[in-house]
Amino acid sequence: MAKKPKFQTPTGMHDILPPEQKYFQKIYEVSENIANFYQFKKIETPILEETELFSKGIGLATDIVGKQMFTLRTKGGDCLTLRPEGTAPVVRAYIKHGMFNLSQPVKLWYFGPCFRYEKPQAGRYRQFWQFGFEVFGEESPVIDAQIIQIFYNILRELKLKNLIIEINSIGDSQCRPYYKKLLMSYFRSRESSLCADCRRRLRENPLRILDCQEEKCQRIISQAPQMIDHLCESCHSHFKEVLEFLDEIELPYRLNPYLVRGLDYYTKTVFEIYEDSEEGRAQGALTGGGRYDALVKLLGGKDTPAVGASTGIERTIAAMKTKAIRLPQESRPKIYLAQLGTLAKRKSLRLLEDFRKAKIQVSESFGRDSLKAQLARADKIEVKYTLILGQREALEGTIIIRDMKTGRQETIKTEKVVREIKKKLNSR
Ligand code: HAM
Repeated sequence: MAKKPKFQTPTGMHDILPPEQKYFQKIYEVSENIANFYQFKKIETPILEETELFSKGIGLATDIVGKQMFTLRTKGGDCLTLRPEGTAPVVRAYIKHGMFNLSQPVKLWYFGPCFRYEKPQAGRYRQFWQFGFEVFGEESPVIDAQIIQIFYNILRELKLKNLIIEINSIGDSQCRPYYKKLLMSYFRSRESSLCADCRRRLRENPLRILDCQEEKCQRIISQAPQMIDHLCESCHSHFKEVLEFLDEIELPYRLNPYLVRGLDYYTKTVFEIYEDSEEGRAQGALTGGGRYDALVKLLGGKDTPAVGASTGIERTIAAMKTKAIRLPQESRPKIYLAQLGTLAKRKSLRLLEDFRKAKIQVSESFGRDSLKAQLARADKIEVKYTLILGQREALEGTIIIRDMKTGRQETIKTEKVVREIKKKLNSR
């Protein structure tokens, strides 16, 4: 058995190797195109933020803050955390840069890594990537529907089918306190049957119990009171309108009265998008998001309604792979440059630069000295033409063009070769 290398990636973290990069690239391109269409502007925030941004923004009782943050103390004594998600940092940036003075809504999007100290398993890593879209300064339910539509469309454009949107409303500061009380008394009377985590959640925030995946808790949750039966007038009409917009654009959604999401900042609409299959369920949501009308104020800004969502890149790639979704092949070089001798090698470097400027991709193996080995390589990668620069040609200022299909060769002046190759490629 091969010896295990001394250094491994940290648990739950992965290298993104070249074959994986084309999936990242594709997801980036699709989200960027959609961002441009809907006029979202790109933002990048630091990977580290003050810990309090997350503990206050996401909520002390959440698993993310309670168990999953990578937190460190700097030499200067600051307490910083590797971002576990993108929304709180974007809100911080919105406040810090006075974006409430810009014409609203302000629409921002991002693409980058996040960190959560989770138990690694399929679809759950300690470093993972997300892209996210956030809209500030707009309270209309049409924006909730548009955000859902944007994420649904991105996944569809990545050729994922069989997607289902789960949606719920978790009310606001008007109606949620009463619902929490109802939940509290419901769970308290069944406390002894809850898992240890949920008994703690009962004291901290009973809504968090609805998120628990333990089977014995699930049984109790399935009979619990539902938020949609206790929404105040304004949350109720907001939710009704969101659903009407979704009907209008014919998106497939399913009401999930126990969907609360694992972050405390949500108000009104919450949603997740899944692949509607057993594997899709097992892997977890591809996208999660919702409205968070109180977060900007909570983090020190003006009262600003907001809504957004983000998608996990690794989960999306896993879904694309199980569907065997093919990505366009990378463009392959049509030209190979073979060289022989020191002078030829030197001239080849300059020649390659001329081809780069002319935007013609050329492959070479400058490390190889044998012409036979180089021609074998040219054959293998199936180029259309091989350029041969031997010692004699290098001295005479010429180069040989070999048509790989016919085997025909011609010698021309080196300064004409780029133009000649361009002509040949265009005439094919
Ligand atoms: P979230 O549901 O925590 O929401 O994460 C969004 C997505 O990130 C998930 O649906 C999943 O695809 C991916 N994800 C989360 N944790 C992991 C993990 N450990 N490993 C792999 N993928 C993971 C948020 O982060 C919110 N900031 C979304 C949002 C934006 N709400 C409003 N705006």
